[in-house]
Amino acid sequence: MCGIVGFVGTENAKERIVDGLKRLEYRGYDSAGIALPIDGKIQIRKHVGEITNLEKIIADDSFDAPVGIGHTRWATHGAPSDINAHPHGNQDDSIAIVHNGIIENYQEIREWLAREYGVQFKSETDSEVIAHLIGIYYDGDLLSAVNKAVEDMRGAYAVCAIAAAEPDKIVAVRKDAPLVAGIGRGCNFIASDIPALLKYVREVYLIENNETVVLTKDDITIYNDRGQKVKRDVFHVNWDADAAEKEGYDHFMIKEIHEQPKGIQETLMRRVDEEGNINLDGIAMTKEDIEGFNKVYIVACGTAYHAGLVGKSLIEKLAKIPVEVDVASEFRYRDPFVDENTLFIAISQSGETLDTLAALREAKAKGARILSVVNVVGSSVARESDDVFYTWAGPEIAVASTKAYTTQLICMYLIALYMGRTKGILSQGEYDRILNELKALPEKVEEILAKEEQLAFLAKKFHHKEHVFFIGRGLDCGVSYEGSLKLKEISYIHSFAIAAGELKHGTIALMDPDSLVVALATQDDLYEKMVSNIVEVTARGARVIGMAKEGRVEIEQVADEAVYIPSCADEVTPVLTVIPLQIFAYYVAKERGCNIDKPKNLAKSVTVE
Ligand code: AGP
Repeated sequence: MCGIVGFVGTENAKERIVDGLKRLEYRGYDSAGIALPIDGKIQIRKHVGEITNLEKIIADDSFDAPVGIGHTRWATHGAPSDINAHPHGNQDDSIAIVHNGIIENYQEIREWLAREYGVQFKSETDSEVIAHLIGIYYDGDLLSAVNKAVEDMRGAYAVCAIAAAEPDKIVAVRKDAPLVAGIGRGCNFIASDIPALLKYVREVYLIENNETVVLTKDDITIYNDRGQKVKRDVFHVNWDADAAEKEGYDHFMIKEIHEQPKGIQETLMRRVDEEGNINLDGIAMTKEDIEGFNKVYIVACGTAYHAGLVGKSLIEKLAKIPVEVDVASEFRYRDPFVDENTLFIAISQSGETLDTLAALREAKAKGARILSVVNVVGSSVARESDDVFYTWAGPEIAVASTKAYTTQLICMYLIALYMGRTKGILSQGEYDRILNELKALPEKVEEILAKEEQLAFLAKKFHHKEHVFFIGRGLDCGVSYEGSLKLKEISYIHSFAIAAGELKHGTIALMDPDSLVVALATQDDLYEKMVSNIVEVTARGARVIGMAKEGRVEIEQVADEAVYIPSCADEVTPVLTVIPLQIFAYYVAKERGCNIDKPKNLAKSVTVE
């Protein structure tokens, strides 16, 4: 996904910008570029491919300045190419911009600019129109030109602009795309994401929607959409910059898999006090609110959606409220039944997923109460929600989500327990029992992590398979979807998840000796039915990895391989069952020589539709 970094100081903008862009590499990109005002002109250099390609063409010492903007692009309009890479300049390159997001009416603006001003476009991008708009409105004041340009634009954007005639400043503006200003000493930064700035600053201003910000080396001024100055509290970033390094692991993904006991512990600790009460500090939802909800919608994308599937079972079982789970891209266009008695739960690691954000706004407009489960503090989803239940996974760098998922699950348990208890539906005994099971999870996850070698062995054995099926019943069903997504997104193996009981209604036709089936059989009351499903697929020649709780050794008689999770209550199995699936996917991808942390065609944060 696109990344923005800008710097205003007294020297060496190039070094800071390139460093910031590298810290955003994990988001995925296809080209990179930088623009600097040098000797009364703006010089733009950009290159398709990795940042190292850009570094080669900006290595000369004469290409540097105290101010500059940089960008990593993930193509939306126009193929990845040098020309389509950002920054983009206006006709005479007296203005340059970088842009994240999409300008929906760019065709209309292009035609108008060509007709009225004879503009000749260099790229196929929607973004280039922004540079030309600012260029035609510019009369010596970049701020006012940016403000005028924004009036013509429809869509989502975070834009940073520089002008050759004002080489000491950056003007930036945002709508529905993140932007953060970093407060330095004698210098200031602007970026699309906090990690880009962490090497240099820890104090930042989170820029809100429809705000414009002017940065000089000594000052950061934020304006609202009426042109009034806005006072913003400084946000202190606590993350350890080292948390964004691999710490000796081969990949971020496996490092993050190993961080799960800590993430789970942390997420629990933040909300459960020593007496075992769930505290909702910072959440305004009252007992009356909870009693008033007659429906819950859980809406998310990808892995976060899979956490929602488990959340549905938990809330329905523990709080007895009907729950619908929907993928955000469907929810937002289907005019769902939402009103003021609806609780809308958005789940998102990044908090910037465009479809999730749009679904949230749709629900909000219909009067729903918005509770979000988010990992990135200060993200758009968090800011636009009534209440936020943060996951404490820490920054997740690998594109494949792992620790975000398990911490999202923990939040779903806590929300369901709290609602059930508040409504008086869940007895104290049941509440204590489940809470104690949750508290035991970090240790049990450690036990599974200790079995990494077994999973690496299974990956070696099965990595050549081209079709893998994940099956399960009850809570195992939702986890199957996540296991399947994990495998396909990093190993590029075709995988498919299905409720085990559905097999015989069609999918079983695909079973043959080339098939691998990963069968999750961790639910006590559904165990025998799963054993029957395993027998059904092995009868067609499929090979099976069966997963069950320790002690369920019968599975070894029907499956080719057995993987055990520590004994636990059925309700909490998803947090454990997913761990071997993540590790298996990781080692399969490793065996196949895949780019594990940055799989092809994927981006960490999907901020376009
Ligand atoms: C997970 O491995 C994925 N890469 C992806 O499905 C992700 O979960 C999805 O894009 C949602 O992202 P979010 O949690 O940041 O909203």
